[in-house]
Amino acid sequence: MSVDPYKRGRMRSPKETKSYIDPFQLNKPLDGACVGQVLQSKNNQFKVGDYVLGNFGWREYWLSRDSKNVMKINQKIAPLQSFLGALGMPGLTSYVGLVSIGKLNEGKDTVFVSAASGAVGSIACQIAKIKGCQVVGSAGSEEKVEWLLDDVKVDHTFNHKTVGENNLSSELKKGCPKGIDLYFDNVGGKHLEAAIDNMKTFGRIVLCGMIYQYNTTTPPLGPSNLFLAVTSRIRL
Ligand SMILES: NC(=O)c1ccc[n+]([C@@H]2O[C@H](COP(=O)([O-])OP(=O)(O)OC[C@H]3O[C@@H](n4cnc5c(N)ncnc54)[C@H](OP(=O)(O)O)[C@@H]3O)[C@@H](O)[C@H]2O)c1
Repeated sequence: MSVDPYKRGRMRSPKETKSYIDPFQLNKPLDGACVGQVLQSKNNQFKVGDYVLGNFGWREYWLSRDSKNVMKINQKIAPLQSFLGALGMPGLTSYVGLVSIGKLNEGKDTVFVSAASGAVGSIACQIAKIKGCQVVGSAGSEEKVEWLLDDVKVDHTFNHKTVGENNLSSELKKGCPKGIDLYFDNVGGKHLEAAIDNMKTFGRIVLCGMIYQYNTTTPPLGPSNLFLAVTSRIRL
């Protein structure tokens, strides 16, 4: 069977798509990050009542044979639900993408984040703002755009649905007149193409996800301007 890289992330057979994460298994609980509370314990690192974070599968009860892959939650740091968001997988994805892979330059970079109001994108925007960067975010409704401006405090944002996919590049030019240093890509497709158009020389693009193509049934088109990655010496 050939590999179809555009198929839905985890809704596939293991042979269909290469991925860093296993597909969901038939007749098994769906898995993903979850918070649980210890009901009984024979491990002195965990006592009854402790909250833990892990990938136990979304179920009511779970038996742990060791403490591997289970992290005790310290509720003094932040409320429980934060460990599934800012302090969990989405937050780590944003942090590693921006800081380790994207080599964010504090106080200097102009950063563009797509799907900016989502779980990963909203944290990426906030980390970049905390680090003193200029941040532009795209989102798909007026309500999300307002939230990004008022609460997340990004510098410029736009509704990609009203702008239209053929105008994304010119819209980005308005928000980043001197160009983009770092693009945090959650969407792919025309968003990626528009960002490539506006990247500064030696800009960096973090390929976090390509959500626009997860439901496509035919191979998606690649960015038509990818040669700019060579001429502008962009790192993807
Ligand atoms: N590499 C990793 O380790 C890793 C880990 C986690 C997530 N991811 C990836 O990160 C991305 C964001 O994940 P998330 O958890 O933040 O998702 P999320 O909270 O569900 O947000 C996803 C948002 O993407 C936007 N979107 C969906 N289809 C779109 C399209 N065709 N064009 C433009 N925007 C579209 C929608 O926002 P609007 O209404 O604003 O358009 C949607 O709400 C995904 O691509 C995901 O696969 C990667």
